[in-house]
Amino acid sequence: MSNLSEVSELLLLAPDLVSDDMLGKALGDDAIFAMALACCENRVIARLAATMRLPEDFIGLLLREDKKGMSWKYRTDRHRRKSLRGEVFNRFGNANHLAGALDSLMHLGIRPAGRCFDVGCGLGFGMLHAARVGYAEISGCELPMPYYRPFVDYFDGKSGFSYQPVDFFSQDFGGGYSLVVCQDVLEHISDPSLAIRKMISMLDSEGVLLILQGNHQSASFVLSEPHYGVAFLSLLDRMLGAQLCRDLNLIPSEEDYVVNRWPTIEEIAEAAAPFNVQVLRQFTPIGRSLSTSSEHRAMIRSKLESALPNLRQRICTEQIQRAVDLVADRYMKVLDQRPGVAWPPNSESVSRVDIPGWVLVISKRRFDSATLIDSHLID
Ligand SMILES: C[S@@+](CC[C@H](N)C(=O)[O-])C[C@H]1O[C@@H](n2cnc3c(N)ncnc32)[C@H](O)[C@@H]1O
Repeated sequence: MSNLSEVSELLLLAPDLVSDDMLGKALGDDAIFAMALACCENRVIARLAATMRLPEDFIGLLLREDKKGMSWKYRTDRHRRKSLRGEVFNRFGNANHLAGALDSLMHLGIRPAGRCFDVGCGLGFGMLHAARVGYAEISGCELPMPYYRPFVDYFDGKSGFSYQPVDFFSQDFGGGYSLVVCQDVLEHISDPSLAIRKMISMLDSEGVLLILQGNHQSASFVLSEPHYGVAFLSLLDRMLGAQLCRDLNLIPSEEDYVVNRWPTIEEIAEAAAPFNVQVLRQFTPIGRSLSTSSEHRAMIRSKLESALPNLRQRICTEQIQRAVDLVADRYMKVLDQRPGVAWPPNSESVSRVDIPGWVLVISKRRFDSATLIDSHLID
């Protein structure tokens, strides 16, 4: 079945018959989403929960919050672009990557036991997945934003969990953790090296730090930067990025721009030394690796080219026009060339357009890297 409206109908009438593949497609479709959200039907919730391997009451909460979010969040939260689908479902993809990474850790022989800490735990997906695989005591911290309140409340009083609505730097969370997770948080932190050192200091002697990070130079991020949805934004440095967002009326001032420069693997390795930093997984959200398909590359190029005129029209600062043209030109040139390799880390950064996002495992132990690097192509 390829017709999305048929999928949506089936989702509502007989959700058990919807395959994971079909559901994945439905999750990416705004119209279907709106429908699923509008009904918050119990069987749809059960189906989503089974797909995500997460508790039904949590999925129910997500759906309810998403529904509410559509009516109030985007009117009050000026940081975010307007979107039909709510923020929570943008995190579904993230949660899947984390679930996969936790499974990979187990394949490395890292036994899920003891204490786990999730830095910038957001809605709590990470904490739930850690519990699912077997960590006994799970904590997380997240900035105290009203948006996260229902999720703080969800974990309040739940045995084995502690969701603390506090800044990671404001508290001492103790030590002795066998796992610390940090997913897509470092680009929001002004001193990622300091954060990495603090996370490492929380580990027990056999402990592992898992860092998951999208790649800001990957074609999907360049096409649509994940925080503001603006083509080429992910290639600009912080100040220029903030100015572009101001030009586009997405933020009132530079202080409201929430994204810093993404850290590189080399920077993370430097901060983590002498701990070993190894790539556990790579993934690309765009289906096929650019390096394997020239048609795919041409498709990305044409999408980027068609995004440019509209963007140019909306930019009012000459400096930003020039900066966007420069990065766009450079990026397109790279798309025309043979892309460089993702690893080793000292490869020219501009040649890394086809690098997918990555999951790093940081620990005292060194794992055999041949068993670690594992490319995952995710639609
Ligand atoms: C892109 S979200 C990722 C959330 C979650 N880890 C996930 O993958 O769904 C980044 C989160 O980091 C949080 N964050 C940023 N700086 C933080 C800090 N200093 N302490 C705690 N959380 C922080 C933000 O509030 C935001 O919710």
